[in-house]
Amino acid sequence: MTRHLFSLPRCLGIGLLGVLIGPACLQAQAQTMSATSSSAMPPGIERSSFGRLADGREVDCYRITNDNGIEMRVINYGGIIVSLKTPDRTGRLDDIVLGFDSIGDYLSDTYRQANPYFGALIGRYGNRIANGRFTLDGETYRLPTNDGPNTLHGGDVGFNQRLWHVEPFSSAEGRGLVLTYTSPDGEQGFPGRLSTRVSYTLTDDNELAIDYRARTTRATPVNLTQHSYFNLKGEGSASVLDHELMINASAYTPIDETLIPTGEIADVSGTPFDFRQPTLIGARMGQKNTQLAYAKGYDHNFVLSKTPGQGDLPTLAARVIEPRSGRVLEVATTEPGLQFYSGNFLDGSLTGKSGRPYTHRSGLALETQHFPDSPNQPNFPSTILKPDETYHSQTVYRFSTTASEDLPHAD
Ligand code: GLA
Repeated sequence: MTRHLFSLPRCLGIGLLGVLIGPACLQAQAQTMSATSSSAMPPGIERSSFGRLADGREVDCYRITNDNGIEMRVINYGGIIVSLKTPDRTGRLDDIVLGFDSIGDYLSDTYRQANPYFGALIGRYGNRIANGRFTLDGETYRLPTNDGPNTLHGGDVGFNQRLWHVEPFSSAEGRGLVLTYTSPDGEQGFPGRLSTRVSYTLTDDNELAIDYRARTTRATPVNLTQHSYFNLKGEGSASVLDHELMINASAYTPIDETLIPTGEIADVSGTPFDFRQPTLIGARMGQKNTQLAYAKGYDHNFVLSKTPGQGDLPTLAARVIEPRSGRVLEVATTEPGLQFYSGNFLDGSLTGKSGRPYTHRSGLALETQHFPDSPNQPNFPSTILKPDETYHSQTVYRFSTTASEDLPHAD
């Protein structure tokens, strides 16, 4: 692990992003970032139209580039990362995230039925809450159920379907966007008015640093994450089973048949969930295993091993290597958990931006998070945010390449 993953968020935490949500924070930010107005964009950022929502609101697309040619495009609808181009070991750029190039594709009935959350910001509660309910301070709250009996990714209309306010910036740390959304008290059944502020920073060290902050007016569960699907061969390529994965976790949270944790923190040793040594994703997928059967593959929360002495800094959670292209993706986070989802519900019914269908397991998600169903699981780390607290979470995705040719091949 290079120093970048750990040093960048430290400076983001105290400088660029400030510690508060609200005018004081935004004012401090204005002093360190290039000013933006609706017409002027900072260098390295361009804005264009991505179409309109059904109610006529305009969807903007921001193209952000770094000095090494990495290019990311983000829309204000759902904070969706619609494309991300990174070099392979020969320098060839490919788009490594699943997505579309027009808003219509994200609004279509086919997309809504499949509900894959491509590239989106997820809130208020990433992952599942059992039976769409939880009890807090003696009061029971009911949420819309949109995943069998459970609530998934914030309910029927999560943060992935909201239009965010976007401020582009350029700073010493990199170029990016600050996205804000205020969720009214009671939205999707959750208590408290939640002011949410997320920043995406693309650095010249080839990192995408994501910083999440939130404040609430009443105690409420919060679990924010990012739902990009990666295929390091390039989106639209065949399955990710030939990607090699390391997850820095010696335990995971087993699930029931509705993908809700049983409450157990299970040792990964001797199971297909042991990714402590780099392993091809497909190597054990076919094993007879109840957990793999419930999820139709990997769709599990891993309990991340934390590096002693790192305090609140992001620590290495996972590394993915695609041997042919040489692309390497590393994920570091301050979160205690990581949902590894192997694209089990992709079935070819959606066609991506390059005209190729997104077939079974053609993308993988690594969602940094608190554990699923924490509001109903007293032995899991708490996800309750109180009015006198600031929710703060950081995740860094780092893109690089490896020259090594003797990496394992699936075929
Ligand atoms: C998360 C869930 C999966 C699935 C995807 C979206 O990763 O854990 O079960 O719902 O989102 O399809």
